[in-house]
Amino acid sequence: MATPKALRIAGVELEPWESDYLVGALGAGRFSEKHLEVAGDLGDPEVLSIFIYSKITKEALDKLPSLKLITTLSTGFDHIDLAACRDRGVTVCNVPSYGENTVAEQAMALLLAMTRKIIPAVERTRHGDFRLDDLRGVDLSSKTAGVIGTGRIGKHMIVALKGFNMNIVAYDARPQPELAKELGFTYLELNDLMKQSDVVTVHCPAIPETRHLINEVRLRMMKPDAYLLNTARGMIVDTQALVNVLNEGHLAGVGLDVLEEETFIIDERQLLSKPFNQQNDLRTVLADHVLLNHPRVIITPHNAFNTKEALIRILDTTIKNIRGFEMGQPVNVVS
Ligand code: NAI
Repeated sequence: MATPKALRIAGVELEPWESDYLVGALGAGRFSEKHLEVAGDLGDPEVLSIFIYSKITKEALDKLPSLKLITTLSTGFDHIDLAACRDRGVTVCNVPSYGENTVAEQAMALLLAMTRKIIPAVERTRHGDFRLDDLRGVDLSSKTAGVIGTGRIGKHMIVALKGFNMNIVAYDARPQPELAKELGFTYLELNDLMKQSDVVTVHCPAIPETRHLINEVRLRMMKPDAYLLNTARGMIVDTQALVNVLNEGHLAGVGLDVLEEETFIIDERQLLSKPFNQQNDLRTVLADHVLLNHPRVIITPHNAFNTKEALIRILDTTIKNIRGFEMGQPVNVVS
């Protein structure tokens, strides 16, 4: 079989190490850290790798006369006018997933940090204090974990929690009975999950139906010494309600990687990019601020996706998208 002709490749919104990685795999190309509008001359590319700050409109396509493929480093593709791409015969590919185990691992890290009081323990020993006072933790083994959302990340979380010998219950708007049988867990109604779980961990999407899914009524259903984890999206948990119940002494610990004010986050990789700019709702910011200083809350800065391997998986998928297209077998096509 003849080797397909290598296409002219360009990429924007790439950090220098990402450009080097793509050059290593794909050969020459024109790559820029800037977004499309200000990236300068890209050499009339046939393939263009973009991220969410590069808006693909009909006008943008007019400036790229030889373009055949757009591949976005994101999962979402709202920044691309798919109809305009179709009219011009431009294929569009995305990165459907990259951090399933990665986010679950961060949720486990938050949980263990709380149940074993890792943060105060380390802070103390750093200061030469080796006393055990107030450092007694709790076991996870034989306790019940409630997983909300049994999709890609939720599945990894179930496997991780089972590794600690926990009993798993789950809630999902679209339960998968086969998966429950395979992994050994039981689906419950959400309120029953809230009541029965020693650990509740959130892994469902942020959609209108999940806004404040974890509201004050449901928080009060939780066992007083239960733990809550949210590594999905801030708006799923009602921040003000969380502050209220914590202030009344309810819940042993809350581990958050996401905060409610972050409604503007479209794709995690955005957090590493330069144009990222925060626009916050003041009331939620204030409530989030209270959480930040709360002794039973630990917060990480939406960092769950951020491992070396996960970021490389985004680039590897992009390389596969480009190679697949060149070979006439496109993958991860959204339009
Ligand atoms: P997924 O789409 O694979 O799974 C989501 C699951 O939630 C599905 O099983 C779906 O049926 C279920 N679901 C949908 N609507 C629901 C509802 N109303 N109530 C309960 N369950 C519902 O998604 P994936 O990849 O597992 O991601 C889960 C969450 O993690 C998302 O919110 C995503 O934005 C977030 N995330 C966070 C990251 C971070 O760095 N903190 C990184 C990547 C994803």
